[in-house]
Amino acid sequence: MANFHQLKVLEVKKETKHATSIAFDVPMELYETFNYKPGQYLTLKFNINGEEVRRSYSLCSSPALEEPLRVGVKRVKDGLVSNHINDNIKVGDLVDVMPPDGRFFADVKKDNYKTYYLFSAGSGITPILSILRTVLFTEARSYVYMIYGNRTEESIMFKQELDALQEKYGDRFILEYTLSRPKSSWSDLWKTSNEHIFRKGRVDAEAVKWFINEYPLYAQNTEYYICGPGTMIENTKKALKTIDVPDERIFIESFGANASKDTTEAFENAKLTANLNGETIQVSIPKGKTVLRTLIDAGKKPPYSCEGGVCSTCMCKLKSGKIHMKNNLALTDKEVEQGYILSCQSIPLTESIEIEY
Ligand SMILES: Cc1cc2nc3c(=O)[nH]c(=O)nc-3n(C[C@H](O)[C@H](O)[C@H](O)COP(=O)(O)OP(=O)(O)OC[C@H]3O[C@@H](n4cnc5c(N)ncnc54)[C@H](O)[C@@H]3O)c2cc1C
Ligand code: FES
Repeated sequence: MANFHQLKVLEVKKETKHATSIAFDVPMELYETFNYKPGQYLTLKFNINGEEVRRSYSLCSSPALEEPLRVGVKRVKDGLVSNHINDNIKVGDLVDVMPPDGRFFADVKKDNYKTYYLFSAGSGITPILSILRTVLFTEARSYVYMIYGNRTEESIMFKQELDALQEKYGDRFILEYTLSRPKSSWSDLWKTSNEHIFRKGRVDAEAVKWFINEYPLYAQNTEYYICGPGTMIENTKKALKTIDVPDERIFIESFGANASKDTTEAFENAKLTANLNGETIQVSIPKGKTVLRTLIDAGKKPPYSCEGGVCSTCMCKLKSGKIHMKNNLALTDKEVEQGYILSCQSIPLTESIEIEY
Protein backbone atom coordinates (compact mmCIF):
# COMPACT_ATOMS: atom_id res chain seq x y z
CA MET A 1 0.00 0.00 0.00
CA ALA A 2 1.32 3.47 -0.90
CA ASN A 3 2.30 5.64 2.05
CA PHE A 4 2.47 9.36 2.49
CA HIS A 5 5.85 11.11 2.43
CA GLN A 6 6.56 14.61 3.67
CA LEU A 7 7.72 16.79 0.79
CA LYS A 8 8.96 20.35 1.10
CA VAL A 9 7.26 23.07 -0.94
CA LEU A 10 9.86 24.56 -3.29
CA GLU A 11 7.79 27.16 -5.06
CA VAL A 12 4.31 28.67 -4.88
CA LYS A 13 3.18 30.48 -8.00
CA LYS A 14 -0.03 32.39 -8.62
CA GLU A 15 -1.24 31.13 -12.00
CA THR A 16 -4.45 33.18 -12.13
CA LYS A 17 -6.49 35.13 -9.56
CA HIS A 18 -8.06 31.84 -8.47
CA ALA A 19 -5.36 29.25 -9.08
CA THR A 20 -1.95 28.48 -7.66
CA SER A 21 0.69 26.00 -8.63
CA ILE A 22 2.94 24.34 -6.08
CA ALA A 23 6.26 22.65 -6.76
CA PHE A 24 7.65 20.00 -4.43
CA ASP A 25 11.20 19.05 -3.60
CA VAL A 26 11.62 15.28 -3.89
CA PRO A 27 14.71 14.05 -2.00
CA MET A 28 17.04 11.78 -3.94
CA GLU A 29 16.09 8.66 -1.97
CA LEU A 30 12.45 9.11 -3.06
CA TYR A 31 13.13 9.76 -6.76
CA GLU A 32 12.02 6.32 -7.81
CA THR A 33 8.96 6.32 -5.54
CA PHE A 34 7.82 9.59 -7.10
CA ASN A 35 8.41 8.55 -10.71
CA TYR A 36 5.28 9.25 -12.75
CA LYS A 37 3.68 9.11 -16.14
CA PRO A 38 2.27 12.27 -17.76
CA GLY A 39 -1.38 12.55 -16.70
CA GLN A 40 -1.06 10.98 -13.23
CA TYR A 41 -1.92 12.72 -9.96
CA LEU A 42 -0.65 13.17 -6.41
CA THR A 43 -2.80 12.83 -3.32
CA LEU A 44 -2.14 15.46 -0.66
CA LYS A 45 -3.11 15.08 2.99
CA PHE A 46 -3.84 17.97 5.34
CA ASN A 47 -5.16 18.43 8.82
CA ILE A 48 -7.66 21.27 8.65
CA ASN A 49 -9.63 22.24 11.75
CA GLY A 50 -8.68 18.97 13.40
CA GLU A 51 -9.90 16.81 10.52
CA GLU A 52 -7.72 14.72 8.23
CA VAL A 53 -8.57 15.47 4.62
CA ARG A 54 -7.15 14.11 1.37
CA ARG A 55 -7.49 15.46 -2.13
CA SER A 56 -5.96 14.44 -5.44
CA TYR A 57 -4.23 16.92 -7.76
CA SER A 58 -2.93 16.08 -11.21
CA LEU A 59 0.70 16.73 -11.95
CA CYS A 60 1.16 19.50 -14.51
CA SER A 61 4.93 19.06 -14.63
CA SER A 62 6.54 16.70 -17.13
CA PRO A 63 8.48 13.57 -16.15
CA ALA A 64 10.58 13.94 -19.30
CA LEU A 65 12.01 17.30 -18.29
CA GLU A 66 14.29 17.71 -15.33
CA GLU A 67 11.93 19.74 -13.19
CA PRO A 68 10.28 19.51 -9.77
CA LEU A 69 6.90 17.85 -9.39
CA ARG A 70 4.21 20.50 -9.69
CA VAL A 71 0.45 20.58 -9.19
CA GLY A 72 -2.01 23.33 -10.12
CA VAL A 73 -4.93 23.97 -7.78
CA LYS A 74 -7.96 26.06 -8.67
CA ARG A 75 -10.24 27.41 -5.98
CA VAL A 76 -13.63 25.71 -5.72
CA LYS A 77 -16.41 27.80 -4.17
CA ASP A 78 -16.55 26.94 -0.44
CA GLY A 79 -14.04 24.16 -1.08
CA LEU A 80 -12.04 23.19 2.00
CA VAL A 81 -8.71 22.09 0.56
CA SER A 82 -8.47 24.11 -2.66
CA ASN A 83 -8.89 27.35 -0.70
CA HIS A 84 -6.54 26.19 2.04
CA ILE A 85 -3.85 25.57 -0.58
CA ASN A 86 -4.45 28.88 -2.35
CA ASP A 87 -4.51 30.89 0.90
CA ASN A 88 -2.04 29.23 3.23
CA ILE A 89 0.61 27.10 1.57
CA LYS A 90 4.01 28.75 1.42
CA VAL A 91 7.57 27.90 0.41
CA GLY A 92 9.27 25.65 2.97
CA ASP A 93 6.02 24.04 4.23
CA LEU A 94 6.03 20.27 4.58
CA VAL A 95 3.09 18.53 2.94
CA ASP A 96 2.08 14.85 3.20
CA VAL A 97 2.09 13.52 -0.34
CA MET A 98 1.21 10.06 -1.64
CA PRO A 99 3.31 8.84 -4.61
CA PRO A 100 1.87 9.41 -8.10
CA ASP A 101 -1.01 7.24 -9.20
CA GLY A 102 -3.80 7.11 -11.75
CA ARG A 103 -4.85 5.36 -14.91
CA PHE A 104 -5.11 8.48 -17.05
CA PHE A 105 -1.76 8.82 -18.75
CA ALA A 106 -0.11 8.81 -22.16
CA ASP A 107 2.43 6.16 -23.00
CA VAL A 108 4.97 8.56 -24.47
CA LYS A 109 7.87 7.05 -26.44
CA LYS A 110 10.58 8.62 -28.56
CA ASP A 111 9.68 6.60 -31.66
CA ASN A 112 5.92 7.14 -31.52
CA TYR A 113 4.26 8.64 -34.57
CA LYS A 114 0.84 9.71 -33.38
CA THR A 115 -1.81 12.40 -33.49
CA TYR A 116 -2.96 13.55 -30.07
CA TYR A 117 -6.21 15.45 -29.64
CA LEU A 118 -6.32 17.13 -26.23
CA PHE A 119 -9.58 18.55 -24.87
CA SER A 120 -9.54 20.47 -21.61
CA ALA A 121 -11.46 23.07 -19.68
CA GLY A 122 -10.71 25.03 -16.51
CA SER A 123 -8.46 23.23 -14.03
CA GLY A 124 -8.69 20.17 -16.30
CA ILE A 125 -5.62 21.62 -18.02
CA THR A 126 -3.26 20.16 -15.38
CA PRO A 127 -2.84 16.54 -16.59
CA ILE A 128 -3.28 17.70 -20.20
CA LEU A 129 -0.36 20.13 -19.83
CA SER A 130 1.83 17.32 -18.54
CA ILE A 131 0.91 15.11 -21.50
CA LEU A 132 1.33 17.98 -23.94
CA ARG A 133 4.78 19.00 -22.73
CA THR A 134 6.00 15.41 -22.52
CA VAL A 135 4.81 14.55 -26.03
CA LEU A 136 6.23 17.69 -27.61
CA PHE A 137 9.56 17.19 -25.87
CA THR A 138 9.87 13.44 -26.48
CA GLU A 139 8.02 12.54 -29.69
CA ALA A 140 9.52 14.58 -32.52
CA ARG A 141 7.23 12.97 -35.12
CA SER A 142 3.89 13.33 -33.30
CA TYR A 143 1.28 16.05 -33.77
CA VAL A 144 -0.80 17.63 -31.01
CA TYR A 145 -4.11 19.43 -31.52
CA MET A 146 -5.54 21.01 -28.42
CA ILE A 147 -8.63 22.99 -27.51
CA TYR A 148 -8.81 24.63 -24.09
CA GLY A 149 -11.96 26.21 -22.68
CA ASN A 150 -12.25 28.87 -19.99
CA ARG A 151 -14.69 31.54 -18.89
CA THR A 152 -12.53 34.58 -19.53
CA GLU A 153 -9.05 35.32 -20.78
CA GLU A 154 -7.94 36.05 -17.19
CA SER A 155 -9.01 32.60 -15.97
CA ILE A 156 -6.77 30.69 -18.42
CA MET A 157 -4.27 28.71 -16.36
CA PHE A 158 -0.67 28.38 -17.66
CA LYS A 159 -1.40 30.73 -20.57
CA GLN A 160 2.15 32.06 -20.84
CA GLU A 161 3.53 28.56 -20.88
CA LEU A 162 1.01 27.38 -23.46
CA ASP A 163 1.72 30.34 -25.72
CA ALA A 164 5.46 29.69 -25.45
CA LEU A 165 4.92 26.05 -26.46
CA GLN A 166 2.86 27.14 -29.43
CA GLU A 167 5.64 29.48 -30.46
CA LYS A 168 8.33 26.83 -30.07
CA TYR A 169 6.52 23.83 -31.57
CA GLY A 170 4.22 25.64 -34.03
CA ASP A 171 4.97 23.11 -36.78
CA ARG A 172 3.33 20.24 -34.86
CA PHE A 173 1.25 21.82 -32.09
CA ILE A 174 -2.03 23.65 -32.62
CA LEU A 175 -3.85 25.30 -29.74
CA GLU A 176 -7.27 26.89 -29.83
CA TYR A 177 -8.60 28.78 -26.81
CA THR A 178 -12.33 29.09 -26.37
CA LEU A 179 -14.00 31.50 -23.93
CA SER A 180 -17.55 31.10 -22.65
CA ARG A 181 -17.83 34.56 -21.07
CA PRO A 182 -15.49 36.91 -22.86
CA LYS A 183 -15.48 40.44 -21.45
CA SER A 184 -16.60 42.22 -24.57
CA SER A 185 -20.00 41.40 -26.02
CA TRP A 186 -18.84 39.32 -28.96
CA SER A 187 -21.40 38.55 -31.56
CA ASP A 188 -19.17 36.61 -33.95
CA LEU A 189 -17.75 33.15 -33.47
CA TRP A 190 -14.21 34.48 -33.59
CA LYS A 191 -12.74 37.62 -32.14
CA THR A 192 -9.33 39.01 -31.50
CA SER A 193 -8.50 40.24 -28.01
CA ASN A 194 -5.12 41.97 -27.75
CA GLU A 195 -2.90 39.95 -30.05
CA HIS A 196 -4.72 36.63 -29.49
CA ILE A 197 -7.54 35.00 -31.32
CA PHE A 198 -10.19 33.27 -29.23
CA ARG A 199 -13.15 31.18 -30.15
CA LYS A 200 -16.36 32.07 -28.40
CA GLY A 201 -18.24 29.34 -26.54
CA ARG A 202 -17.59 26.22 -24.51
CA VAL A 203 -15.83 22.98 -25.33
CA ASP A 204 -19.11 21.32 -26.35
CA ALA A 205 -20.20 18.90 -29.08
CA GLU A 206 -20.32 21.62 -31.71
CA ALA A 207 -16.84 22.89 -30.83
CA VAL A 208 -15.37 19.38 -30.84
CA LYS A 209 -16.81 18.56 -34.25
CA TRP A 210 -15.64 21.88 -35.66
CA PHE A 211 -12.16 21.36 -34.18
CA ILE A 212 -11.66 17.90 -35.64
CA ASN A 213 -12.98 19.02 -38.99
CA GLU A 214 -10.66 22.02 -38.97
CA TYR A 215 -7.63 19.97 -37.90
CA PRO A 216 -7.96 16.47 -39.36
CA LEU A 217 -5.66 13.80 -37.98
CA TYR A 218 -2.18 13.62 -39.43
CA ALA A 219 -0.76 10.34 -38.16
CA GLN A 220 -3.36 7.53 -38.30
CA ASN A 221 -2.44 6.35 -34.82
CA THR A 222 -4.62 8.79 -32.92
CA GLU A 223 -5.48 9.22 -29.24
CA TYR A 224 -8.00 11.52 -27.59
CA TYR A 225 -7.49 12.84 -24.05
CA ILE A 226 -10.26 14.68 -22.17
CA CYS A 227 -10.19 16.43 -18.80
CA GLY A 228 -12.63 19.04 -17.49
CA PRO A 229 -16.03 19.40 -15.81
CA GLY A 230 -18.54 16.53 -16.08
CA THR A 231 -20.70 18.06 -18.83
CA MET A 232 -17.66 18.95 -20.91
CA ILE A 233 -16.42 15.36 -20.66
CA GLU A 234 -19.82 13.93 -21.61
CA ASN A 235 -20.30 16.29 -24.55
CA THR A 236 -16.80 15.73 -25.88
CA LYS A 237 -17.13 11.97 -25.65
CA LYS A 238 -20.54 12.05 -27.35
CA ALA A 239 -19.16 14.16 -30.19
CA LEU A 240 -16.24 11.74 -30.66
CA LYS A 241 -18.65 8.80 -30.74
CA THR A 242 -20.66 10.45 -33.54
CA ILE A 243 -17.53 10.36 -35.70
CA ASP A 244 -16.90 6.72 -34.76
CA VAL A 245 -13.83 7.15 -32.56
CA PRO A 246 -13.41 3.78 -30.82
CA ASP A 247 -13.64 3.72 -27.00
CA GLU A 248 -10.11 2.39 -26.58
CA ARG A 249 -8.73 5.57 -28.18
CA ILE A 250 -10.52 7.88 -25.74
CA PHE A 251 -8.92 8.61 -22.35
CA ILE A 252 -10.85 10.52 -19.70
CA GLU A 253 -9.95 12.06 -16.35
CA SER A 254 -12.73 13.35 -14.15
CA PHE A 255 -12.14 15.52 -11.09
CA GLY A 256 -15.50 14.31 -9.77
CA ALA A 257 -17.23 17.61 -9.13
CA ASN A 258 -20.81 16.39 -9.25
CA ALA A 259 -22.13 15.38 -5.85
CA SER A 260 -24.07 12.14 -6.02
CA LYS A 261 -27.84 12.46 -5.71
CA ASP A 262 -28.23 8.74 -5.16
CA THR A 263 -30.93 7.80 -2.67
CA THR A 264 -30.42 4.02 -2.50
CA GLU A 265 -30.85 2.78 1.09
CA ALA A 266 -28.23 0.59 2.70
CA PHE A 267 -28.93 -2.59 4.68
CA GLU A 268 -28.74 -1.29 8.25
CA ASN A 269 -25.87 -2.56 10.43
CA ALA A 270 -24.75 -5.11 7.87
CA LYS A 271 -21.76 -7.21 8.90
CA LEU A 272 -18.55 -6.40 7.12
CA THR A 273 -15.66 -8.84 6.84
CA ALA A 274 -12.63 -7.13 5.33
CA ASN A 275 -9.31 -8.71 4.46
CA LEU A 276 -6.81 -5.89 4.66
CA ASN A 277 -3.01 -6.11 4.84
CA GLY A 278 -3.16 -9.73 6.02
CA GLU A 279 -5.68 -8.93 8.79
CA THR A 280 -9.30 -10.10 8.87
CA ILE A 281 -11.51 -7.34 10.27
CA GLN A 282 -15.12 -7.80 11.34
CA VAL A 283 -17.29 -4.77 12.05
CA SER A 284 -20.85 -3.69 11.38
CA ILE A 285 -21.54 -0.84 8.95
CA PRO A 286 -23.45 1.97 10.65
CA LYS A 287 -26.29 3.69 8.81
CA GLY A 288 -25.10 6.22 6.25
CA LYS A 289 -21.50 4.97 6.26
CA THR A 290 -19.59 3.57 3.34
CA VAL A 291 -17.42 0.47 3.61
CA LEU A 292 -14.31 2.66 3.53
CA ARG A 293 -15.48 5.10 6.25
CA THR A 294 -16.51 2.18 8.45
CA LEU A 295 -12.97 0.80 8.29
CA ILE A 296 -11.35 4.20 8.90
CA ASP A 297 -13.65 4.84 11.89
CA ALA A 298 -12.65 1.41 13.23
CA GLY A 299 -9.05 2.66 13.31
CA LYS A 300 -7.95 0.71 10.23
CA LYS A 301 -5.91 2.05 7.33
CA PRO A 302 -7.56 1.08 4.04
CA PRO A 303 -6.07 2.69 0.90
CA TYR A 304 -7.94 5.73 -0.41
CA SER A 305 -7.39 9.19 -1.81
CA CYS A 306 -10.24 11.09 -3.53
CA GLU A 307 -13.18 9.54 -1.64
CA GLY A 308 -15.28 10.61 -4.60
CA GLY A 309 -15.42 7.51 -6.80
CA VAL A 310 -12.87 8.89 -9.23
CA CYS A 311 -9.36 7.66 -8.53
CA SER A 312 -9.82 3.91 -7.83
CA THR A 313 -7.24 3.89 -4.99
CA CYS A 314 -9.85 2.32 -2.67
CA MET A 315 -10.63 -0.51 -5.11
CA CYS A 316 -11.15 -3.97 -3.59
CA LYS A 317 -12.90 -7.21 -4.51
CA LEU A 318 -16.33 -8.20 -3.27
CA LYS A 319 -16.12 -11.85 -2.20
CA SER A 320 -19.70 -12.29 -1.02
CA GLY A 321 -22.90 -10.31 -0.54
CA LYS A 322 -24.16 -7.34 -2.53
CA ILE A 323 -23.29 -3.68 -2.45
CA HIS A 324 -24.38 -0.51 -4.22
CA MET A 325 -21.86 2.02 -5.51
CA LYS A 326 -23.17 5.57 -5.22
CA ASN A 327 -20.72 6.84 -7.78
CA ASN A 328 -18.33 5.09 -10.11
CA LEU A 329 -16.14 7.17 -12.37
CA ALA A 330 -13.16 4.86 -12.04
CA LEU A 331 -13.96 1.20 -12.70
CA THR A 332 -14.68 -0.19 -16.15
CA ASP A 333 -17.79 -2.33 -16.78
CA LYS A 334 -15.48 -5.34 -17.05
CA GLU A 335 -13.93 -4.69 -13.64
CA VAL A 336 -17.37 -4.34 -12.09
CA GLU A 337 -18.38 -7.63 -13.72
CA GLN A 338 -15.28 -9.24 -12.21
CA GLY A 339 -16.46 -8.16 -8.75
CA TYR A 340 -14.28 -5.11 -8.14
CA ILE A 341 -15.82 -2.28 -6.13
CA LEU A 342 -14.87 1.17 -4.90
CA SER A 343 -15.02 0.89 -1.13
CA CYS A 344 -15.38 4.70 -0.72
CA GLN A 345 -18.67 4.54 -2.63
CA SER A 346 -20.04 1.20 -1.46
CA ILE A 347 -22.98 0.69 0.85
CA PRO A 348 -24.21 -2.83 1.74
CA LEU A 349 -27.43 -4.23 0.29
CA THR A 350 -27.28 -7.58 2.10
CA GLU A 351 -27.04 -8.66 5.75
CA SER A 352 -23.33 -9.37 5.39
CA ILE A 353 -20.59 -8.65 2.88
CA GLU A 354 -17.00 -9.76 2.55
CA ILE A 355 -14.29 -7.80 0.75
CA GLU A 356 -10.61 -8.22 0.04
CA TYR A 357 -8.12 -5.42 -0.66
C1 LIG B 1 -7.81 12.35 -9.99
C2 LIG B 1 -8.13 13.77 -9.62
C3 LIG B 1 -7.29 14.80 -10.04
C4 LIG B 1 -7.59 16.11 -9.71
N1 LIG B 1 -6.76 17.10 -10.15
C5 LIG B 1 -7.03 18.39 -9.84
C6 LIG B 1 -6.18 19.43 -10.32
O1 LIG B 1 -5.16 19.19 -10.98
N2 LIG B 1 -6.48 20.72 -9.99
C7 LIG B 1 -7.59 21.02 -9.23
O2 LIG B 1 -7.80 22.22 -8.96
N3 LIG B 1 -8.42 20.04 -8.78
C8 LIG B 1 -8.15 18.75 -9.06
N4 LIG B 1 -8.98 17.75 -8.59
C9 LIG B 1 -10.10 18.12 -7.70
C10 LIG B 1 -9.60 18.16 -6.25
O3 LIG B 1 -9.20 16.87 -5.83
C11 LIG B 1 -10.68 18.64 -5.27
O4 LIG B 1 -11.84 17.87 -5.45
C12 LIG B 1 -10.99 20.11 -5.44
O5 LIG B 1 -9.83 20.90 -5.17
C13 LIG B 1 -12.10 20.52 -4.44
O6 LIG B 1 -11.70 20.20 -3.14
P1 LIG B 1 -12.13 21.12 -1.92
O7 LIG B 1 -11.69 20.47 -0.67
O8 LIG B 1 -11.66 22.52 -2.16
O9 LIG B 1 -13.71 21.13 -2.06
P2 LIG B 1 -14.73 20.32 -1.12
O10 LIG B 1 -14.71 20.96 0.23
O11 LIG B 1 -14.44 18.89 -1.24
O12 LIG B 1 -16.10 20.64 -1.90
C14 LIG B 1 -16.83 21.83 -1.73
C15 LIG B 1 -17.99 21.92 -2.71
O13 LIG B 1 -17.54 22.06 -4.05
C16 LIG B 1 -17.99 21.00 -4.91
N5 LIG B 1 -16.82 20.59 -5.70
C17 LIG B 1 -15.84 19.75 -5.32
N6 LIG B 1 -14.91 19.65 -6.30
C18 LIG B 1 -15.30 20.46 -7.30
C19 LIG B 1 -14.75 20.81 -8.57
N7 LIG B 1 -13.59 20.29 -9.02
N8 LIG B 1 -15.45 21.70 -9.33
C20 LIG B 1 -16.62 22.23 -8.92
N9 LIG B 1 -17.18 21.94 -7.72
C21 LIG B 1 -16.55 21.07 -6.93
C22 LIG B 1 -18.45 19.93 -4.00
O14 LIG B 1 -19.53 19.21 -4.58
C23 LIG B 1 -18.88 20.70 -2.75
O15 LIG B 1 -20.19 21.14 -2.86
C24 LIG B 1 -8.72 16.43 -8.92
C25 LIG B 1 -9.55 15.39 -8.48
C26 LIG B 1 -9.26 14.08 -8.81
C27 LIG B 1 -10.15 12.98 -8.33
S1 FES C 1 -10.84 6.79 -2.91
FE1 FES C 1 -10.88 7.47 -4.98
S2 FES C 1 -12.38 6.15 -5.85
FE2 FES C 1 -12.45 5.69 -3.77
